[in-house]
Amino acid sequence: MFDVCIIGGGAAGLMLAHSLPSTYKIAVLTKNTPEIANSYLAQGGIAASLDKTDSPEAHAWDTLLATADHSDPERVEMLTKDGQTAIKKLMAEGLPYDQDESGQPILGMEGAHSTRRILHSGGDQTGKNLMDYLMKKTEKKIHLLPEHQALELIMDNGKCCGAVASNRNGHRQIIPARYTVLATGGIGALYSHTSNSPVAGGEGLSLAYHAGAVLEDLEFVQFHPTILTIDGKSEGLISEAVRGEGAFLVNKDGHSIMDDIHPMKELAPRDIVARTIEWHWQKHGPVFLDARGITCFKSKFPAIWGNLRTHGIDPTRDLLPVRPGAHFHMGGVKTDDKGATTISGLYAIGEVASSGVHGANRLASNSLLEAIVFAKRLADDLVEQNSLSADRLPVQVYASIENGTSGLSDFPDMGLMRSKMTDAIGILRDKKQLNAFITDYPLRPIKHLMNMDDEDISNHHQMTVCTLIATAAYLRTESRGAHFRTDFPSRMDEWQGKVIELSKTGSAI
Ligand code: SIN
Repeated sequence: MFDVCIIGGGAAGLMLAHSLPSTYKIAVLTKNTPEIANSYLAQGGIAASLDKTDSPEAHAWDTLLATADHSDPERVEMLTKDGQTAIKKLMAEGLPYDQDESGQPILGMEGAHSTRRILHSGGDQTGKNLMDYLMKKTEKKIHLLPEHQALELIMDNGKCCGAVASNRNGHRQIIPARYTVLATGGIGALYSHTSNSPVAGGEGLSLAYHAGAVLEDLEFVQFHPTILTIDGKSEGLISEAVRGEGAFLVNKDGHSIMDDIHPMKELAPRDIVARTIEWHWQKHGPVFLDARGITCFKSKFPAIWGNLRTHGIDPTRDLLPVRPGAHFHMGGVKTDDKGATTISGLYAIGEVASSGVHGANRLASNSLLEAIVFAKRLADDLVEQNSLSADRLPVQVYASIENGTSGLSDFPDMGLMRSKMTDAIGILRDKKQLNAFITDYPLRPIKHLMNMDDEDISNHHQMTVCTLIATAAYLRTESRGAHFRTDFPSRMDEWQGKVIELSKTGSAI
């Protein structure tokens, strides 16, 4: 029996493990290996008010403005206040970060921030360096189970007490735990055009849904404006920090496309920049990022430089072809301010959670911050609960976990589904397309997941998430933040403050 079973080995999961006492028995399940986690790819950095002219209040204000009146001001304040403390502590403990000769952090600029407050490491390798740091800090205290896919949560009398997982050989096992934590990350891999790692399949949302948890705000999917796009394929992120250093967006004739759109131009909130680029693509053709004026591109952005060079592109001479792609999910499993879901014993942190801080449009570089802050808050809470009672696992319910061989054979083409996600539940949505998607991919009530083989279970989880997102997007008949309905193109007063909740028992607004 584990004290804590963490499903997901990205920044949120490892930060939780790092923050728990070493006396706790902690399992960390990763679908692949931690190096494939989405957190590894984070380029921009971690937003925190570290400069003496900055403050958590100013950071909270920028966050609230970007989130399109849909975030929870108290949680946002928690994020920026606790965030400042948590990041300073990590820096003091040894987290590597880029600093000047006097040891002060060099802070970057990103969209919708009123000041430079992005802490970065290795230029554009913040996610990698944070992950390497957390892996080192936790390696001796966790039972890492790599290539273990969580198939189902174990429920006993309404309480979650662990998960059933399958390893790379398809061997299934029960991971019993007093506290089960979803830290499975986002959903970008459900889209054909994305900045995300292929492991970001959203399964955590479906695990929670099947266990009976409430999910909320699923319609709010953020599209990153600048994904390097070659022959219609996403070839990696070009960080917003590149625009922060002065790169600008142009059409095929070299004319700026952001001039008349927003006073902050390229550094306007992400949803506005992404929609403008997509509109240009659809009406006039390709859009490019002009980064030729950036001095020392290679040393400021070594990973992006390397990727561009692999594609034969020299950012000091060439324009960079970009198009928006799925990047971050603001919605998720509904949690309180310490990561507790609506199910006893089940918690959610990081991107899979809906913690109330991102509203309808996340502020740049607030995602690693959220992972760190809410992982720490959950760790403190679990320690405080200190209820290490001798819970028993209802093993009899799972007597047949090894029998997963008779898969359903009628799963749709998942590649096609990802293309349809991009078309129907992408940047521009409308009733007709959303309805068609929900009709093509209806929610499938399945009584005994364990009777299916692993791949079908994974497909089932992914399909469930796609349909739930489409349903929420269908229900919200307005446009707000990253959710844009061409048939309801304005923000509506009657939707102000309304949250769409979905669960096995139906929907509530
Ligand atoms: C970026 O570097 O542009 C992505 C950072 C983020 O999503 O916050």
